[in-house]
Amino acid sequence: MGDLPIGEPTQRDLVMTVTDGYMEVAAVKGIWALRRTTSEVTVYSPICTHLGCGFRWDGGARRFKCPCHGSEFDPDGKVVGGPAPRPLDRLPVKIENGHLLVQYKEFKSGTTRQIEI
Ligand code: FES
Repeated sequence: MGDLPIGEPTQRDLVMTVTDGYMEVAAVKGIWALRRTTSEVTVYSPICTHLGCGFRWDGGARRFKCPCHGSEFDPDGKVVGGPAPRPLDRLPVKIENGHLLVQYKEFKSGTTRQIEI
């Protein structure tokens, strides 16, 4: 995680193995990581809480912006514009021996309450 810049959200590929019936397939999720200090990282699900589109970080505006219906979130994931009903979803993280470990989860979009699916 040493290559994550402090204070600037960065998109990283989270590679995981998913079981699909009897098959195991690799899945890649582009999570957003925000390193706050040398030892503290917040990771956001890449799925907009409105209707599930992928959002981007706009470094100039210091906002996450969703292209689908214009929702905007501040670096803490708080909704600052558009129709998103709740903040960005955070994923559980652990730092072990300098490595960032992320537990991937998905949540229902379009709800004010965070509901895991
Ligand atoms: S899906 Fe992101 S604003 Fe609608």
